[in-house]
Amino acid sequence: MQGVAGVSGPAFGARHIAIIMDGNGRWAKRKHLPRALGHKKGVEAVRNIVRVGGEMGLEAMTLYAFSSENWNRPEDEISDLMGLLRQYIQSDIEEFVQNGVRLKVIGNYKALDADIVGMIDNAIEKTAGNDKMTLAVALNYGAQDELLRAVQHVAARVKIGELEPDAIHVDHIAGALDTAELPPLDLLIRTSGELRLSNFLLWQAAYSELYFTDTLWPDFDKGELEKALQAFGSRERRFGGR
Ligand code: FPP
Repeated sequence: MQGVAGVSGPAFGARHIAIIMDGNGRWAKRKHLPRALGHKKGVEAVRNIVRVGGEMGLEAMTLYAFSSENWNRPEDEISDLMGLLRQYIQSDIEEFVQNGVRLKVIGNYKALDADIVGMIDNAIEKTAGNDKMTLAVALNYGAQDELLRAVQHVAARVKIGELEPDAIHVDHIAGALDTAELPPLDLLIRTSGELRLSNFLLWQAAYSELYFTDTLWPDFDKGELEKALQAFGSRERRFGGR
């Protein structure tokens, strides 16, 4: 059986995958290295998986880079992560342009430092015309916050009389989410053996296939992505039907 009847190929018919990239800290600990090096290796894994995902023909990839709860981490770790984010955007934007990758950010990224917001806006603008794959990076993202903002948006439409409460449809909510113009989420992967969604894409994951692996994020490579997509390809998706 296949994820989408008769579909094979490297992505097994998956259009949009999302990844909770977990385990950088444990990867570093196992090697007696500082946590910061685990995050640095994590960025290398991001770079590789974005390339591979594009080559496999995925239309969109959403990566959980910084959650709205990650502000509770020690200040020096937050500053390491923000430094890596700055470096990543600056060093990879040319590659995005060359490889047809369109950058998108989900989450309340405008609350990040002003220089990062500027870099992100610039990268979004520079890659807006690319159409091979959309890379959506979740920054200062929490699914409950995203839903709250969507509900506020819909409520504002009701208030001005544009929409009747009874006429609110799932599409009004979905259309007000940060992921509005992305394809439906096919597969959600979490690395490092944790079995939680951690406030990631709660609405979008309604009918996604879930894939958990013990592999720590810095070790998640092409072979690991192929395994996850093969597992996706072997699932029978029923979307609530029989
Ligand atoms: C989880 O490891 C990782 C994160 C905090 C988010 C992922 C961040 C990166 C891959 C680096 C930054 C990304 C970009 C796009 C620049 P953890 O610290 O929770 O690991 P642990 O659970 O083993 O401690």
